[in-house]
Amino acid sequence: MIHGPYFEDTLVGSKVLPFLLREQASLIEAGHCAPEFVLCNEHRVVSLWDDDKPVCATVWQYYPNSKSAWSYLLVTHKDYWRQGLYTKIHEALSQRMVELGVMIRHSEQWLTNGKIFDAAGKNGMRPYLFRMKKDL
Ligand SMILES: CC(C)(COP(=O)(O)OP(=O)(O)OC[C@H]1O[C@@H](n2cnc3c(N)ncnc32)[C@H](O)[C@@H]1OP(=O)(O)O)[C@@H](O)C(=O)NCCC(=O)NCCS
Repeated sequence: MIHGPYFEDTLVGSKVLPFLLREQASLIEAGHCAPEFVLCNEHRVVSLWDDDKPVCATVWQYYPNSKSAWSYLLVTHKDYWRQGLYTKIHEALSQRMVELGVMIRHSEQWLTNGKIFDAAGKNGMRPYLFRMKKDL
């Protein structure tokens, strides 16, 4: 049975870390994530579990001076896709951010990752910046 969300103040020592590392590896292989480290020890983490295993999680950082927060790597295990877990964790995290005084929630998405635009859009996220690059 799905339980959570569970909030932790750091990734260090979190039982969710191996799950996040596996999911990031899959995203890199799918071309939906830069081949570099996204996670850092300072990240906070929130997770949903099915019995004894994490099945949906994200990491995030709170910036009190700008009343903003960023979430990174919001992932659901593929066996649990389309069961509302993204929505559940997204809403719980927004609520926690509001309690902290956050006024703007940010995230970055890769253009190649089409369905995340549907999922994020459905949860109130709107594009506001187009990042450009040139490979040299
Ligand atoms: C994108 C992802 C996080 C969605 O998680 P999820 O738990 O399946 O999402 P939900 O069940 O809460 O779905 C929420 C909405 O997202 C959209 N959505 C989710 N999966 C979709 C898909 N395959 N195609 C189109 N829309 C999709 C739908 O609008 C859905 O609402 P609906 O089911 O009522 O139509 C999940 O597919 C995933 O982990 N993918 C790999 C990791 C990833 O790309 N993470 C984002 C970048 S870090």
